[in-house]
Amino acid sequence: MAAYDFPGNFRTVELLGAKPVLADVSTPNSSNPSEISPTISPQQLEAAASPNVRAVIASHLHGSHAEMKVLRQACDQNGWILIEDACQAIGGRIDGQATGSLGHLATLSFGGSKLISAGSGGAIIANDQRLAARLNGLLDRPGDTFPLGPLQAAVINPQLDRLDELTQTRNLTARFLREQVFPKMSNWELLHHPKTDTPTAVTKTENAETSVEPNLPHVGQSPPSLSTSNIPAFYKFCWLAPSREIRKHIIEHGTKRGLPLGEGFRSMSRCSEKRCRKPVPTPQSDTLGERLVVMDQRALLITPQQYPELADALHELHHTFSS
Ligand SMILES: Cc1ncc(COP(=O)(O)O)c(C=O)c1O
Repeated sequence: MAAYDFPGNFRTVELLGAKPVLADVSTPNSSNPSEISPTISPQQLEAAASPNVRAVIASHLHGSHAEMKVLRQACDQNGWILIEDACQAIGGRIDGQATGSLGHLATLSFGGSKLISAGSGGAIIANDQRLAARLNGLLDRPGDTFPLGPLQAAVINPQLDRLDELTQTRNLTARFLREQVFPKMSNWELLHHPKTDTPTAVTKTENAETSVEPNLPHVGQSPPSLSTSNIPAFYKFCWLAPSREIRKHIIEHGTKRGLPLGEGFRSMSRCSEKRCRKPVPTPQSDTLGERLVVMDQRALLITPQQYPELADALHELHHTFSS
């Protein structure tokens, strides 16, 4: 697993009596090797491998997608199970395939603040009959596992109907921030952004066909078909502050200004050798752990009329805390 990941994943591995093996996150842009994607580096899998490895956890974090094709290939070749953590990425698509459908197993979260919420709980998706049968076996152990109840399903279902629409609203705001706000803010670095398709607002018409909403921004090309597209899902929108100290100020003052800001995860490279194996250096994960500012998806669920207000709040923060 990546040293920068949801810490609960690390603890889950430990809970099973296994030992996490840490790899670094990816720097996929060869023309800008300092650009970080907060997802496990496929190049490091070989270096981190050992006969004891059983599975690889790949989390899609902060609007970025793990490099699932390469990871799946490496896992299939080595007999490892690929666990795709799509808890932050429900509604995303990678080459037309839904996030959560590319690993041997995938996890979804329906926690309180997530993109689809039932207050708590989640789901496991199995792409493998044998693993699905083993998971079903766990349901025979009452007390250990709690299948999603009908009340939770009743809360989730209507949210599924609006998922594409809300994903696109968030993506339009994220695109506005990337293209029109952050380029003017030196020293605040965005993370690597995979090639994605132009987000375009899609609404359901009465006869259930999709149509393009005319009064939302539509930049450039014609909209991609959902079946062939790369669509990120933003649970958090992130950037790197110049230092840990400045991050603290940004979060403190931004929160007072009403922005839903927080710190990213801590790098797990700080955990002792007793708890995990650290076969490769993890400098990029450590950078994320020290300097990443995360802004909750609530800030992205706004109309284009509200973009200037968001941009002003960020510019003002940047002006005060850029270095
Ligand atoms: C990447 C990732 N995986 C798993 C989870 C766990 O979700 P839950 O709160 O449902 O336990 C989270 C929660 O933030 C997460 O961000």
